[in-house]
Amino acid sequence: MATEHDEYMGSLKAQLAKLFEVSLKVTVPNELDVEPLVAACNGKFGDYQCNNAMGLWSKIKGKGAPFRGPPAVGEAIKNNLPSSEMIESCSVAGPGFVNVVLSKNWMAKSIQKMLIEGIDTWAPLPPVKTAVVDFSSPNIAKEMHVGHLRSTIIGDTLARMLEFSKVKVLRRNHVGDWGTQFGMLIEFLFEKFPNFEDATETAIGDLQAFYKASKQRFDADPAFKERAQQAVVRLQGGEDKYRRAWAQICQISRTEFHKVYQRLGVHLEEKGESFYNPYIPGVIEALNKQGLVEESQGARVIFIEGINIPLIVVKSDGGFNYASTDLAALWYRLNEEKAEWIIYVTDVGQQQHFDMFFKAAKRAGWLPQGDSSYPKASHVGFGLVLGEDGKRFRTRNTEVVRLVDLLDEAKVRSKAALIERGKGEEWTEEEIESTAEAVSYGAVKYADLKNNRLTNYTFNFDQMLNDKGNTAVYLLYAHARICSIIRRSGKDIEELKNKGTLVLGHKDERDLGLHLLQFAEVVEEACTNLLPNVLCDYLYNLSEIFSKFYSNPECKVIGSDMETSRLLLCEATAVVMRKCFDLLGIAPIYKI
Ligand code: ARG
Repeated sequence: MATEHDEYMGSLKAQLAKLFEVSLKVTVPNELDVEPLVAACNGKFGDYQCNNAMGLWSKIKGKGAPFRGPPAVGEAIKNNLPSSEMIESCSVAGPGFVNVVLSKNWMAKSIQKMLIEGIDTWAPLPPVKTAVVDFSSPNIAKEMHVGHLRSTIIGDTLARMLEFSKVKVLRRNHVGDWGTQFGMLIEFLFEKFPNFEDATETAIGDLQAFYKASKQRFDADPAFKERAQQAVVRLQGGEDKYRRAWAQICQISRTEFHKVYQRLGVHLEEKGESFYNPYIPGVIEALNKQGLVEESQGARVIFIEGINIPLIVVKSDGGFNYASTDLAALWYRLNEEKAEWIIYVTDVGQQQHFDMFFKAAKRAGWLPQGDSSYPKASHVGFGLVLGEDGKRFRTRNTEVVRLVDLLDEAKVRSKAALIERGKGEEWTEEEIESTAEAVSYGAVKYADLKNNRLTNYTFNFDQMLNDKGNTAVYLLYAHARICSIIRRSGKDIEELKNKGTLVLGHKDERDLGLHLLQFAEVVEEACTNLLPNVLCDYLYNLSEIFSKFYSNPECKVIGSDMETSRLLLCEATAVVMRKCFDLLGIAPIYKI
């Protein structure tokens, strides 16, 4: 059946899987929907392997199938494989592994085709049409801490990878802009700045400090507490003055958040908690009608199998909470926005919240049972950012790390490193600035993304700004070096793409070519498992494999007979590296 996805080739693995699917249908016609198990292997027998024979044998043996054992099943799978330009040879090994050696010519042609048509032709097949990535999501009037920085960086990368896979991504900033805390803050600010709700310039200053002060006041002064509670009622009742004051506060925080996003080059669309507020009563009522909502100690709750505390959806005072909002937001995303995959990026500390409310959504039939079908909700948890002392990351004088300060410091250090390398004389001030920015912000992002997100990671400027090892600096420089090889050749690379021919004659060239072609399946894996570090590993390996090729005297580039082909291979490496940087939200540099 033709689908709209047919125009994409899909990854190497996906292309091979299609061929094996055909073979499996012929080999075991009575077994329905056998999923081809294809994996890359860097063994001496081949580049890829099909591992279906053993499992199939245990299913069909004794059922009169014409095979004598798994190796025979493997042979049949091999023999029934449709002929394809992409396969050089095929062999069966051990208990029935079918090994595939890819054709060098086909590989070379595919790379050259990509150079001409652009790397978007290598995008993996989209898992869904529309996804929500709920990320960053700081809270109004509170600090945007390093946890939010991680969420911003990880969420942006996941969104970029899905977008590359032709998924329509709704990048949602689920800011905490609603709740009883606004009553005390508004009341406090009215005392300090009468009519601040109408001010055109927001000269309020440090909202966080006022937030803390208002909290202290709330706890210490019963009369103030009374007024603050009244303020909540007036705000939630929609009283104009209070609405405007609230909007003003949100705007101040938003401006602060925006500074960080702008620096990081991250785009988000705000739909804060307040947006879903009007939907909550209807959603809870629907769940209630389904018989899911029960009374417990004055609150309205949903019980979840296997978890001994229930999910509170209406507090005992009748108010709504974080979970009620999240249920309404999920409902909205599924039904109004028609999202098929909803991804939430927060620290692992919130895992139980997500686990519980996903299970509640499954009980309600909003999501299918199990985790392999869509629509799907996924929580992308991440660990803590630690300081040098192994404790939660803090700076010397303040309790929390201001994100803007952090980015500033990284930039100052990168700039100093460039000056030290003598770039001060060579480059314009502008070039130094933009390079320092690309390197430093890239370094902060990469240091976060390269780790498995679930582990805690230690924030260390010296490490992340090192130009050796698995760092953004090393990778950005590696890319710039490739660009300089191409420049030094004096050749017009655009012309070579069409007129020249790429061949993968030497083993190091073939290894590099294979790794390049595996890009799509790596993005696919990173997307499926929501693990950006998979892409980082790929990128680091790419630069290592390139180094091996480039430093091999047998693979001399400039001035050799194979110059054109090798320049094209350099260009392909640079193109794939740039796409990796792009997906990781890192700006490339072209010279060092
Ligand atoms: N504002 C929350 C926090 O700072 C994160 C919100 C995450 N998104 C969600 N839909 N719950 O922890």
